[in-house]
Amino acid sequence: MSTSLNKKVESNLDTQPRDQFKSKLGFILASAGSAVGLGNIWRFPYLTGANGGGAFVMLYLLVLVVVGVSLLLVEFSIGRNGKANAIDSYAKISKNFKWVGYLGVFTAFIILSYYSVVGGWTIYYTLKSVTGLTAVPADQIGAFFGGFIGNPFLPLVFHAIFMFATIYIVAKGISGGIEKYNKILMPALFIMLFILVARALTLPGAAKGLNFYLNPDFSKITMGTLVAACGQVFFSLSIGLSGMVTYASYLSSEENLAQSAVTVAFTDTLVAFLAGLIIFPAAFAFGLEPGQGPGLVFITLPTVFAQMPMGALFSFLFFALLAIAALTSSISILEMPVSYFIEKLKFTRQKAAWAIGGISYVLGIAVSLSFGMWGDVKIFGKGIFDLFDYFSSNISLPLSGLACAIIVGFVWKKQDVLKEVSSNGKYSGGYLNAWYNLTKYVIPVILAVVFLSSIGILKF
Ligand code: PHE
Repeated sequence: MSTSLNKKVESNLDTQPRDQFKSKLGFILASAGSAVGLGNIWRFPYLTGANGGGAFVMLYLLVLVVVGVSLLLVEFSIGRNGKANAIDSYAKISKNFKWVGYLGVFTAFIILSYYSVVGGWTIYYTLKSVTGLTAVPADQIGAFFGGFIGNPFLPLVFHAIFMFATIYIVAKGISGGIEKYNKILMPALFIMLFILVARALTLPGAAKGLNFYLNPDFSKITMGTLVAACGQVFFSLSIGLSGMVTYASYLSSEENLAQSAVTVAFTDTLVAFLAGLIIFPAAFAFGLEPGQGPGLVFITLPTVFAQMPMGALFSFLFFALLAIAALTSSISILEMPVSYFIEKLKFTRQKAAWAIGGISYVLGIAVSLSFGMWGDVKIFGKGIFDLFDYFSSNISLPLSGLACAIIVGFVWKKQDVLKEVSSNGKYSGGYLNAWYNLTKYVIPVILAVVFLSSIGILKF
């Protein structure tokens, strides 16, 4: 989906003034493509499972509405005002906040490294669907998955394929494909999800899963649950990386930012919600442990497919769509540092994409091995995958979010903020004032608490 975006960056090098998204739909698709990905279908369900079910979902929705949507709008405003790579966009408001952009560049390397490992798993499952994934007996699918990710070599091949696809698209910056195909592929993903929801909900024993998923048990809420829910909101909406700052920097000053933010957040949440409606009924119907972690989707879904007529076909289509959804997100993760390397370090687009993707690939090798022979390696008491994931979602992204809220609330002049966010008065309304006050007075407090407890300073 970032195709038109890439063209914009390239043309920006030789033409002035800077180019823009041609249509609002292009921007919404690019941002929704960034948001909807593994975060919704892989990460959201396993965190929900590991954090007690319904109580986590409630907290997630609360943080989404209070913090997530507002910060998405904050990133959109900073980006469109900046009309440059993220670091320059922050510098335009205050030189003291350039570090937020640099932190984003660093974090993009980290997220991309493990995102593409899991992206590789989806490609493997797509191929395996054709060659007998649904024939694996339900009680052995866990062992099958464990055997695959624990293999020192095979996952690295698929990790390479996924990373190569990401680099290829970002490096080319053309092809007109991704954006065009997403108009077909995103609705196709939705249709698949609805079919699977229907199948999962009619499995015998599904009700127990629904109860776990939707009936909150508030005694399960701890500070750790809040940190995890908050991290998931950031990860899923693609905020805190300044990727949305980067995308919005290509947006025309005519578009309605608030409406775009709400549309993207709504789409993203709907996909995550549907994923949970499939996975929990299925997990309970087959007696699978919902708190088992990153393997949850890869273990529950094949058991559902095995119970469906034409299961292999559905399995193939589903994992292919998931791989593509993951790709439209990984492109946005790579685009963020690439735009900086091109505009500031004067790399060519090709070189930037290969260099950043290459380094992330190497980091990803360590992540992949941490599911197998490096399983015992612990840094700060965490395995490599857990460390990368915790650092990005629970520390770096919320910290940037905190900084962005402070920028809008206390550094940027209020009238300039409102001028930008309302497209110079074109879309005004009391809701913008409410958003401003929320961003200034409420969000920094919440994020400061979350950040301090995620680094272990605050304990409850
Ligand atoms: N939002 C993406 C997903 O849910 C992942 C992502 C995180 C993309 C951070 C960009 C920035 O899969």
